[in-house]
Amino acid sequence: MADRVYIFDTTLRDGEQSPGCSMTVPEKVRMAAKLVELGVDILEAGFPIASDGDSEAVDAVSREFPWANVAALARANRLDVEAAAQALRHARRPRIHTFIATSDIHLKYKLKKSRQQVLDEAVAAVTLAREYCDDVEFSAEDATRTEWNYLEEISRAVVAAGARTVNLPDTVGYSVPEEYAAMIGRMAKALGDAAIISVHCHDDLGLAAANSLAALHAGARQIECTINGIGERAGNAPLEEIVMAINTRRDRLPFHTRIVTEHLYPASQMLASMITFGPQPNKAIVGENAFAHEAGIHQDGYLKERTTYEIMEPQSVGVPETRLVLGKHSGRHALGKRCDDLGIPLTKEQLDTLYHRFTSLADRKKGVRNEEISALAREVASETRPSGAAAD
Ligand code: KIV
Ligand code: ZN
Repeated sequence: MADRVYIFDTTLRDGEQSPGCSMTVPEKVRMAAKLVELGVDILEAGFPIASDGDSEAVDAVSREFPWANVAALARANRLDVEAAAQALRHARRPRIHTFIATSDIHLKYKLKKSRQQVLDEAVAAVTLAREYCDDVEFSAEDATRTEWNYLEEISRAVVAAGARTVNLPDTVGYSVPEEYAAMIGRMAKALGDAAIISVHCHDDLGLAAANSLAALHAGARQIECTINGIGERAGNAPLEEIVMAINTRRDRLPFHTRIVTEHLYPASQMLASMITFGPQPNKAIVGENAFAHEAGIHQDGYLKERTTYEIMEPQSVGVPETRLVLGKHSGRHALGKRCDDLGIPLTKEQLDTLYHRFTSLADRKKGVRNEEISALAREVASETRPSGAAAD
């Protein structure tokens, strides 16, 4: 299907290799179970040559989830490819993902190799990987800073050698959407149906999700991403943002994924419990404030009709409910609703009195807790009990 987008999750590889994110093998297996439940299409479980732990994790994930597409990363050399193949030996649907840098800056300073040498090594690695499995992906590291004629030449060569997916990463998060889409469009035209074009964006300029989505219009059909956007430096493209952008704006993004979106928040929480940090509070989709409203005008609109201020239902991403945060910007409407919810219904006059006491407290604090609201509401209710009402 032309509009199906494959989600390649690299939380356990690119995500895990960043500061504060390392996971033990059992943690990786638990996280992999969540990712499988979430419905990711390909699960990159590690970089086997990098460490015994990575190799064991790829093996453990392959055994535990035999029906999943499990990928292992390898640089474009014999030792790496063989290590990946060995770690994947129990996978029923293995993918060897081999890569080499293609930009002149990497060739000159890092690899100290010519373009022809790099092309030959890429072809040799793909050819060797194909001896172990049918599903081989090639990544041209730093593709966005690579000269386009050379990028096309190497892409064609690896496909001729048997690569089924060609990934064109924005390794250093340097590209902007229009430019990335143009590059992807050029390579998609060159490769036609011979391979799936994949994108892999880093977030150094905060554009990873935007670049990934722009690439879809140009022909990319696989997106590499991570839960909570963890990954090298500023991170990788956040899976939850990409999936919900596609789901929410199908009018502009006529694509679909197989992600079960109700598992997005639980997956984010599980990851946060395993690594040293969670998403920032204002992080889209999974941050603590993503479905919270404090401003009075917003709370009032939301209480009258949810869609005035919410473009997604919290439950659709597994967040239990919208939070109305009561602080100095909140209005009477939300305060009255909270009192009803707390079992202390107030008259209009009582609510007016409470509102003044509440705002003077809220002015001095970052937020007002339910217990404080209850105490104030009871105080007002007992002072201004409507005439004829019986005392407690
Ligand atoms: O960012 C990158 O280029 C990578 C490759 C190894 C795919 O992570
Ligand atoms: Zn990366």
